[in-house]
Amino acid sequence: MVSLSVAVSAQDPAACAVDALVINVFEGEKVSECTLASLDQKLRGALARLADLGELDGKLYRTTLVPTEGLIAAPRLLLVGSGKRVEFDNNRARNVAGAAVRALLKRPITTAAIWIRGASDGANLAAAVANGAVLATFDPGEYKTKREEPLPRLSRLTILESSVQRAGAAEIGAKRGALIGEAANFARHLANAPGNVLTPEKLAEEAARAASEYGFAIEVLDRAHMAALGMAALLGVAQGSEQPPMTIVMSYRGRGGDGYDLGLIGKGVTFDTGGISIKPAENMYLMKEDMAGAAATIGAMCAIARLGLHVNVLGVVPAVENMPSGHAMRPGDVLTALNGKTIEVLNTDAEGRIILADALCYAQRLGAKRIVDAATLTGAVVVALGHQAVGLLGTPQEWVDQVKDASEKAGERLWQLPLFDEYAQQLKSEIADVANVGGRAAGTITGAMFIRQFVDEGVAWAHLDIAGTAWTEKEEPYLAKGPTGIPLRTFVSLAQALEQGSTQPEGTPE
Ligand code: BES
Ligand code: MN
Ligand code: ZN
Repeated sequence: MVSLSVAVSAQDPAACAVDALVINVFEGEKVSECTLASLDQKLRGALARLADLGELDGKLYRTTLVPTEGLIAAPRLLLVGSGKRVEFDNNRARNVAGAAVRALLKRPITTAAIWIRGASDGANLAAAVANGAVLATFDPGEYKTKREEPLPRLSRLTILESSVQRAGAAEIGAKRGALIGEAANFARHLANAPGNVLTPEKLAEEAARAASEYGFAIEVLDRAHMAALGMAALLGVAQGSEQPPMTIVMSYRGRGGDGYDLGLIGKGVTFDTGGISIKPAENMYLMKEDMAGAAATIGAMCAIARLGLHVNVLGVVPAVENMPSGHAMRPGDVLTALNGKTIEVLNTDAEGRIILADALCYAQRLGAKRIVDAATLTGAVVVALGHQAVGLLGTPQEWVDQVKDASEKAGERLWQLPLFDEYAQQLKSEIADVANVGGRAAGTITGAMFIRQFVDEGVAWAHLDIAGTAWTEKEEPYLAKGPTGIPLRTFVSLAQALEQGSTQPEGTPE
């Protein structure tokens, strides 16, 4: 993976001796009347002439590279369209920085400076810019033996601030944003790994390595341990595969003392064939991403520990492979979860909710009272929300709202769906406590209603269905095709919010 170091400086943009200077431009702004005027003077009116040619229209994420002919210290100027000035916020800034870095990575340069105009708040802006820049370095072509882009590549980025005073706060923000970006890239690297490379065992090894590097505790439960505990639901899903299942339990105690302020759970199906209810061949390969929730959970633990947040966080990842075989569970089998509830498996392809049931029971047994799970759970969430938003469901509403708030601050889009009691009727089983599927109607909701059966009274729980958002088939100027890392930023932002309590100032986490 490319490593990009990000720093902050109060230098004059024109004096910055880097390979490329990046500046954002807005729709309809006049070069002579805005903060670009003095730079344009040094460039002898080059920017104004470009604007006259219609090359500076500010179209969102469009990049234009201009040679500076020795008139300023940087030999190249990269202009990045930033849309309408009134719409510009830290999330746009994240994407603008990402678009710039993705454009620069294709060029034979190693250093750049970025001057983002039009947002006021120093630390959070710098965090967003650093975050977008680091996210943009993710290369999904990890398994190619030859690089397509020229070498050397961009390795140092300086965020420019207008004063030394502001630069101090921005520096702290930039460190935070870059660190969260690195954690997200680690999660993307895990989600990108094919099923033959990333087995449950390998996922546990990766988590253990991260735990020792970043300083959180980890315990991995193997099949025998899970059997002794009574996690027969998870083991039922795992029994068709040659790959041994693992439950990865991570614990970070930044507040000290007992209990957990937050429990994170991530679906870790390292490959989902559907089992005996096998999936069609077309696009089945994408089911290597069925552990994206697990990846985000492990990555979030890394970020939370590296940030040293004063919160206690538990992370639980049930990791299995869902395979058909002579050992596999059959449609109609009945499994007993850790809390004693029985599940009739009407469709072996609805496996995520079954392993989450045991993981959720276990997290509660370990003392988690406020829980968020992330799972590539249903194709139905794509029907409901497309690829633009994560499905958000949960109870009580205050907790759902808190999760939603955290996601907004982090620039990840969540959209709530209802959990009306009546939906539970769809999950009635003739012979067991609950069936694992509820028919075609409201598939994302019935998936969540199933998981809800395993949430104890008094426990706050939110479920994030990321099946439509964990992977992007469409390359964006600021985002490579492939795993997105969602909802890692929401997880970290939520931990930050819980650390600061309810009195936090607006927009602190990033
Ligand atoms: N892992 C899939 C869901 C999925 C679909 C993830 C598309 C990513 C992209 C999940 O285990 C699954 O197979 N769900 C079934 C549930 C159905 C059998 C009730 C589905 O959505 O079809
Ligand atoms: Mn499935
Ligand atoms: Zn699945």
